Amino acid sequence: GKTILITGVASGIGARTAELAGQFGADVIGVDVREPAAPAGSFVKADISSKAGVDDLIASLPQRIDALCNVAGLSGNTGAVSTLAVNFYGLRALSEALAPRLREGGAIVNVASIAGYGWRANLNRAASMVGIEGFPDVAKVVADHQVKNEEGYPVSKELLLLWTFRAAHQELFKNRGIRVNAVSPGPVETPILKQFRNVLGDARVDSDIARVGRAGTSGDIAPVVLFLCSDGARWVNGANVPVDGGLEASINAEVL
Ligand code: NAI
Repeated sequence: GKTILITGVASGIGARTAELAGQFGADVIGVDVREPAAPAGSFVKADISSKAGVDDLIASLPQRIDALCNVAGLSGNTGAVSTLAVNFYGLRALSEALAPRLREGGAIVNVASIAGYGWRANLNRAASMVGIEGFPDVAKVVADHQVKNEEGYPVSKELLLLWTFRAAHQELFKNRGIRVNAVSPGPVETPILKQFRNVLGDARVDSDIARVGRAGTSGDIAPVVLFLCSDGARWVNGANVPVDGGLEASINAEVL
């Protein structure tokens, strides 16, 4: 079977992705800072918010992995520093450290967000923050780039989208045929949604949900993540796949 590493497996989208990957016959290695109630496959407790946390995690992983699903994320309610550390710099450090262990033709899938679509409008800042190599002192990065706490979440996802597009063309991945793609969910019924409601306000979240009739579920997102991991997606690279019931299309097309 294939070995798939999934972060954020203690809850929501990561938990459902792990469960479904197991049903498809994959050997799942789940990662989270919290113990999952019912782990699908094996579990490694790790905190990807620091370089030491990522290094410890890497040391406990097998030498060969077929796919990496970067699902773990924070809502932004703990501030910009922790949010950027988990949602971008930790995720990227894990991906780069794992690249040599990913099999040729393997895949990385990043769970981004519709909240990251400002990457193009904010390209200068995003490019500058993505351009910082390795696992930086995130507090310094936040101060240098004047990222406000309430901007932490959208900025983290802007960086993640821009990095996804770049990583698809980065030698580290490209030389060995490792594809790097993103999935951008709209509002999904998981514990993080309540935190988004606190950060963004109910009106904003409810209007997004109303545009497409309902919120998504973890089960709406997981199959798309696993498709991008699969050989069926062998010619899909550097893509962002919105999984939002049509929300992004309705905004782009100025429907409603
Ligand atoms: P969730 O809160 O249910 O799950 C996130 C998981 O990440 C938790 O189990 C948490 O313990 C783990 N995690 C947090 N910090 C960590 C760290 N330092 N190290 C390791 N694991 C850590 O949320 P959900 O909805 O499953 O979110 C998954 C991803 O989907 C996140 O990246 C989120 O930004 C993204 N997303 C979610 C949306 C939603 O409405 N639910 C919308 C758009 C994107």
